[in-house]
Amino acid sequence: MSTIGTPLTRVDGRLKVTGHAQYSAEFNVPNLARAVIVGSTIPSGCITRIDVDRAERVADVIAILTPDNAPKLPGAERRVSVLQDNQVYYNRQPVALVIAENLHAAQYAASLIEVHYQDAPPKLDFLAGFPNSYPGSHNNEPGDLSWGDVDAGLAQAEIKVDQLYTTPIEHHNPMEPHATIAQWEGDHLTLHDATQNIFGVKKYLAKMFGISDDNVHVMSLFVGGAFGCKGQTWSHTILAAMAAKHVNRPVKLVLERPQMFGPVGARPRTHQRLTLGATRSGKLTAIRHEVHAHTSVIEDYLESSAFPTRVMYACPNVSTIHRLVPLNLGTPTYMRAPGVATGTYALEVGMDELAYELGMDPLQLRLVNYTDVDPHTKKPFTEKSLRECYTRAADRFGWSKRTPAPGSMRKGSLLVGWGMATETYPANRNVAGAVVRFLPNGRALVASGTEDIGTGMYTIMTQVAADTLGLSPALVDAKVGDTIFPQAPLAAGSMSTASVMPAVQAAAIAARTNLIALAVSDSSSPVYGASPNDVIITNGKISRKTLAGGAEDFTELLLRHGNQPVEGTAKAAPPEDLNQYSHHSFGAIFAEVLVDPDLRMVRVPRVVAVFDVGKLLNTKTGRSQFIGGIVWGISLALHEDTYVDERNGRIANANLADYRVPVNADIGDIDVTAIDAPDMNFNPLGARGIGEIGITGTGAAIANAIFHATGKRVRDLPITPDKLLT
Ligand code: MOS
Repeated sequence: MSTIGTPLTRVDGRLKVTGHAQYSAEFNVPNLARAVIVGSTIPSGCITRIDVDRAERVADVIAILTPDNAPKLPGAERRVSVLQDNQVYYNRQPVALVIAENLHAAQYAASLIEVHYQDAPPKLDFLAGFPNSYPGSHNNEPGDLSWGDVDAGLAQAEIKVDQLYTTPIEHHNPMEPHATIAQWEGDHLTLHDATQNIFGVKKYLAKMFGISDDNVHVMSLFVGGAFGCKGQTWSHTILAAMAAKHVNRPVKLVLERPQMFGPVGARPRTHQRLTLGATRSGKLTAIRHEVHAHTSVIEDYLESSAFPTRVMYACPNVSTIHRLVPLNLGTPTYMRAPGVATGTYALEVGMDELAYELGMDPLQLRLVNYTDVDPHTKKPFTEKSLRECYTRAADRFGWSKRTPAPGSMRKGSLLVGWGMATETYPANRNVAGAVVRFLPNGRALVASGTEDIGTGMYTIMTQVAADTLGLSPALVDAKVGDTIFPQAPLAAGSMSTASVMPAVQAAAIAARTNLIALAVSDSSSPVYGASPNDVIITNGKISRKTLAGGAEDFTELLLRHGNQPVEGTAKAAPPEDLNQYSHHSFGAIFAEVLVDPDLRMVRVPRVVAVFDVGKLLNTKTGRSQFIGGIVWGISLALHEDTYVDERNGRIANANLADYRVPVNADIGDIDVTAIDAPDMNFNPLGARGIGEIGITGTGAAIANAIFHATGKRVRDLPITPDKLLT
């Protein structure tokens, strides 16, 4: 019986709920010193003087690092703020570091440091920055991409929608803050770092300190949420290593919650002008999607909001344009479904507006413009079952009972709104390695240098290895988050399952092959002399398929051979013919809102979504990923907003009390289903990624439902009651 695809409970669940899972800040390294970052209080300018006298006199302070005395780092570059110069590019940028015997001394001393500045005029006005905006790229894909003739397509259109959609800056807010424990032994650096990219940290720290990659060992065994903000190496990780080297002892640095707002990324603000042209029968003749998004003045990060527009609908004339607007804020970064979450909001609200202009059902409009090939490259999809998602989700939701007129549905005194949208996310895959071992104690080990950022990686690795080895999952131990294991891509871009599982499967096949080869050549084995193809392993027992000659536990075989593990390793890469295809996941989401007609409070009692993500390897952890994504979508639609004080670039709600995220009471019933359509063109397990697609489309489905309830089209997220009152 295969364990793949079953709802196996999270194998690390017990460790987590009993507090035994060790997060990066939780390692009891002997002689550990604590470091605290002092952040700038201006957004732009330079430091003229730092007065550390009072701070230095605090008991238990070991050292204070500032641009005046910090060691010069051979690999330093402007994108990180590691005390190499006096320049200030954003508010809360690290400008000094206190290292002390304990946290309280470090915090107190940090509060006594006086930093004097010379201000320079900051760039904080997003709209004023448009004339100086410039093109960018996202993951090596061009920001600007067009086909056909959009002007001609719009001239041909009988119906048009031309609107501006805006989304705010958002912050990831994982429960676990960024944290690093750094330790040097000579030229060798060991880090416990809260990261979704251990090999990225390893490479970057080696470059930063001018040492060989081999001299950096990074561990990230458990990650308390990441969502993109732990995908790249930020200043604090380097500062922790710098401090440890400077004081010649291990140092722990944990960001305080307010420090999570600025120095470690955010989802950038976007302005998206969307122009749709269609015939009276609803056929799209043109789409123009022009995005302005902010970046920092020290590094480009492009929010690729128009990327989903390149893949969603059949349309002969499409233009997608992105412009970066540099501001004196911390560099934005990938945040759950980067680009796609914000872009599907604009595109899918635009489609709803078009449906109303046409007097057509919004689902029908999607079906009229359905595409079975990539609309730009004309390549086939590796697998696409979106039509089935629409039908099934509409059915489960009861969409046919909807009356289209805004305000036409009620529940008691409340306005009822039903809205829908399409979901999509690219299917990514990259080279990954894994190792699998049969152990003399009767268990097996599967390890890969990937990370489990709460997704269920430990669990599905266990399942795939157990399945291939012929062992119960209870006898398989998975390990991740350590650069001593074979390299895997960063846990991001919904790519880990699709990348790592083929490597796990291949490594397990290699281990099994090696074990069987040992058995058939061992004269004491019941399968001695058999053809390896005739040998099977079931529940850890080696036998012929026919069971002739009996069976023995693999541990007995190992015992006769020095009691050593038998191992298999493998590296898996995307198939060579993958570029013949377009590879994306899709889904359909339907949302119900209840709106108080007087107070304009919005509730979301239920959401129904059906996903097409290839094969789901674990229906329990998979469902949890989808639900998490949808909760984020509800949050995008109704809650999250970062307030930047445009006078000083200070974030006014840099804490979990004022930065709104949904709580349990904000979330109603979420009904998720995945279509079982294995994508064998994508990888041998048929799986695509699932971590991000849930947030996409959700914002639009809710915005569309609110329009249906109220007749009010809010094109500026989040949709708060004040925007519905006016
Ligand atoms: Mo993600 S935003 O690719 O962690």
